[in-house]
Amino acid sequence: MCGIVGYVGDKDCASLLVEGLRKLEYRGYDSAGLAVETSAGKVGVVRAVGKLANLDAALAKTPLSGKTGIGHTRWATHGRPSEANAHPHVAGNVAVVHNGIIENHVELRRGLEAAGVKFTSDTDTEIVAHLVHEEMGKKQGDFASSVRRALARLRGAYAIAIVCGDVPETILVAKNASPLVIGIGDGEMMAASDIPALLAHTRDVIFLEDGEMAVLEKKSATLSTLDGKPITRAPKRIDWSPAQAEKGGFKHFMLKEIFEQPRAIEDTLRGRIDVTAGEIVEEEIGVTATLAKKIARVYFVACGTSSHAAIAGRYWVEQLARIPATVEIGSEVRTREPVFGPGDLVVAVSQSGETADTLAAVRTAKAMGAHILAVANVLDSAIPRASDGALYTHAGPEIGVASTKCFTAQLAALLMLAVHLGRARGALSKEEARRILDALLAVPHAMRDALEEAEHVKNLARKYARARDMLFLGRGTGFPIALEGALKLKEISYIHAEGYAAGEMKHGPIALIDEEMPVVVVAPRDAHYEKTMSNLHEVRAREAQVIAVVSEGDKDVVGVDAIRVPVVEPEVLPLVTVIPLQLLSYFIADIKGTDVDQPRNLAKTVTVE
Ligand code: M6R
Repeated sequence: MCGIVGYVGDKDCASLLVEGLRKLEYRGYDSAGLAVETSAGKVGVVRAVGKLANLDAALAKTPLSGKTGIGHTRWATHGRPSEANAHPHVAGNVAVVHNGIIENHVELRRGLEAAGVKFTSDTDTEIVAHLVHEEMGKKQGDFASSVRRALARLRGAYAIAIVCGDVPETILVAKNASPLVIGIGDGEMMAASDIPALLAHTRDVIFLEDGEMAVLEKKSATLSTLDGKPITRAPKRIDWSPAQAEKGGFKHFMLKEIFEQPRAIEDTLRGRIDVTAGEIVEEEIGVTATLAKKIARVYFVACGTSSHAAIAGRYWVEQLARIPATVEIGSEVRTREPVFGPGDLVVAVSQSGETADTLAAVRTAKAMGAHILAVANVLDSAIPRASDGALYTHAGPEIGVASTKCFTAQLAALLMLAVHLGRARGALSKEEARRILDALLAVPHAMRDALEEAEHVKNLARKYARARDMLFLGRGTGFPIALEGALKLKEISYIHAEGYAAGEMKHGPIALIDEEMPVVVVAPRDAHYEKTMSNLHEVRAREAQVIAVVSEGDKDVVGVDAIRVPVVEPEVLPLVTVIPLQLLSYFIADIKGTDVDQPRNLAKTVTVE
């Protein structure tokens, strides 16, 4: 997730573009840059690593003056945060900014290098600049048709803005699976990844759809499909306040991020799955098949929400790869005298990649000869840097302190890892792998269905918002989801909540159950359904009110507040069953009026012991 902006009009645009980027900093902030047409036929570029203040300083040293330009604030996916990897990327007179992931970047890059192109960055985006430049050089048709031919060679997700010195006072924008909105001004046009960047200039916008492009000139926005069919679309008027706009119309970042999960999963899976072969693309996963065959034990380390993803990861690695696996919270690894050695694969799961306890565990394990794989959302953060390999989730920046989309992206990454290990070691057949990978690719759709229950969950939240305590139960991979449901509730609503393995209830927590203790049971139709149902009945028999997360069509669960989730393959259930629990916590917290995005005493990144 990155932020892009563009302007063509009569104003000097560098500072205007930077102001637009400032409104998009929530989308990425590891580097930023501008490309501005400074004189006829000439495009000047200034880029800087770090936050926008650094770009301001760079522009103070090297000012860019011109009335047509594009800008970018980056959240790295391919290539570490550095000035060379910052956008815009340039080839000849063409400058490109991009938000998304180009799936076939490796083969395109190889082709261009073979033709003599010298790359100056590690990004997938630079390829786009070279392809457009190559097509412009053929002089077949106009700017738009050159870009169309270049884009036809790409697979993946993009929102792109391009300027070309040979085509003055023009910006070309295109979109496939990443957002792009055009702002219609009076004698000026803008483009941006999101509305907040436009609101200072106009409230009349046109949303570009997937497979569409537009040529922006001062007084016109000419839309067409990527295969050249003209489109007519009237602008829409946006009446959001600037604060609402920043959150995409949602009341809180957390709610926005809950709803972003289908896209976060699509991006995390993108370009990594070969369903026909029943394989994961090895270069994307951070563990080679050779190494996979040598692993004697998988040891997950993580904290908080990431440790819940790790528990699901453990279950999958045991089930699909038949490797002994264990999970430990980072702080306890540094407290004990653990035993690691060659043959151990230590999987460090961390959204921020900076958590001090997880980092300390990584260093301990590495010093003892274990191979370390980081599963992180922030490229080139401390944990991936201290590791031997990295498997990045592509959830984009998460602003809400309570993790939601990063959690489900971790689940997706860990399931891919388990499939990869299983295939490499011959523990998982091609047919089984295909079934699971197909199910994984269908998760975004299932999540969208689950999110449609939001209104119903909101009504339940009204009923339960006054609870003092709550218990969450689940079995199998429903157990980490119960833990996560309880953690979300306590983090943002300050209601005391505990997550338990359903089978453990009778070993203690059952003593707490009465009519004052609502119990949330994760009870989808899976292999553990009947046993979980027995627990549910035990709870009901003690007068507790039950909220049950059940599979669509399940008519056997009666006398409870049921929340239905779509029927999916058992391996991907946790990615779907967690959604109603995130929504329940969110709505309860909102009813209680707590600070949902910045709950008391919590920090997004915990860099202290
Ligand atoms: O950045 P990490 O994933 O390593 O963070 C670990 C925990 O601090 C984090 O998951 C925490 O529990 C969140 N507040 C969860 O919502």
